[in-house]
Amino acid sequence: MGRPQQRGPAWGALILLPLLWLQQAPCSGAAPRIAAGAAAAAASPLLCNVSLDVAPECRWDPVLRHFDPAFLRAAYARIIAEGVPKWVHAILKPIAEELENFVPQPFAGEIRGLCNALGLNVGDGLLFNLAYEATAFCTSIIAQDNNGNIYHGRNMDYAFGDILSKITIDVNFLKNGKVKFRGTTFFGYVGLWTGQSPNKFTISGDERGKGNWWENAIAAFLKRSTPVSWLVRTALSEAEDFEAAALMLSKTPIIADVYYIIGGTTPREGAVITRRRSGPEDIWPLDPLDGGWYRVETNYDHWTTPPPFDDRRTPAIKALNATGQENINLETLYKILSIQPVLNELTIYTTVMSAAAPDNYTTWIRTLE
Ligand SMILES: *[C@@H]1O[C@H](CO)[C@@H](O)[C@H](O)[C@H]1NC(C)=O
Ligand SMILES: *[C@@H]1O[C@H](CO)[C@@H](O)[C@H](O)[C@H]1NC(C)=O
Ligand SMILES: *[C@@H]1O[C@H](CO)[C@@H](O)[C@H](O)[C@H]1NC(C)=O
Repeated sequence: MGRPQQRGPAWGALILLPLLWLQQAPCSGAAPRIAAGAAAAAASPLLCNVSLDVAPECRWDPVLRHFDPAFLRAAYARIIAEGVPKWVHAILKPIAEELENFVPQPFAGEIRGLCNALGLNVGDGLLFNLAYEATAFCTSIIAQDNNGNIYHGRNMDYAFGDILSKITIDVNFLKNGKVKFRGTTFFGYVGLWTGQSPNKFTISGDERGKGNWWENAIAAFLKRSTPVSWLVRTALSEAEDFEAAALMLSKTPIIADVYYIIGGTTPREGAVITRRRSGPEDIWPLDPLDGGWYRVETNYDHWTTPPPFDDRRTPAIKALNATGQENINLETLYKILSIQPVLNELTIYTTVMSAAAPDNYTTWIRTLE
């Protein structure tokens, strides 16, 4: 089975966007007011505001007040101990002393600020922020309905669900008092695997497992490549439109292979970008005129067959087929993401979003009874 031809908006004109390495700013100014978002339903995460106008070292402080510091310290310690190989601790902990030389802003400042506030070693803060790999299995779906609306949904499947479901948050990142972008993350984890630039685009990331993950990732990190979730946040923060975001996600060097799934606001704006660390391996756009009104990405290259012991793709495709293009919307997409084994015991949260209707961004914390 051949790979679909590459098509879509100017995929050929990939350009490399350099990361900004900014100076560390001191803490100053009043802390902003934060949405206490007190969840009406038990399954809704905390919704918080984080102001990008506040120095990185201080901007998470108001959110921290919603959590028990002792719980957070124990949670991070367990994830680092069980999720990060010991030799990685040995290499990264000394480096963390000079965090700002290895980690770009705002990530360095935010990690340092969180560690200061919690009384944690900065090396542990860095390790927690690199620890996502353990067993991340995810499902992302983009779809276009008959009227050309684009929908994007994702399940985040990950170990440590007992801990991470308690610190899953939706965050509005504010600039000049307005929502610049929105994302879903675990408190203390400053990258984003799921997010939305309002009226522009939505992004999710799915792990693309390869052997020697840690060896390759740490080597690339030391050469200043960016962690995959930091690039998602950078794209949400800096890309002007769908096309610019797609180019940034395709081309910027990252520390690990990954699938980036991106949705836009107008017909055919949607693609699965299969990444190797250095650049794009494949770009698989929506192609509604040729039957491709949806794309499903789990954790296997779309041109291969998923292994029988972990086939979440076929059940998702069956459910999309049964739903039909005329009936796809955020509600039906949520239902598709709730079918087992697309939803499974590792699923921590489900997010559905549509960049053209930014207020409809919704996350649920999942438990499989
Ligand atoms: C969060 O920010 C938005 C946008 O500025 C604002 O409307 C909302 O009131 C804020 N929430 C709280 C509780 O401060
Ligand atoms: C879904 O529908 C497409 C188009 O009709 C078909 O080619 C494909 O085999 C279907 N897949 C499943 C798993 O039902
Ligand atoms: C967003 O939500 C509103 C209110 O429920 C609904 O009318 C609208 O169709 C939704 N739009 C999309 C693109 O999901």
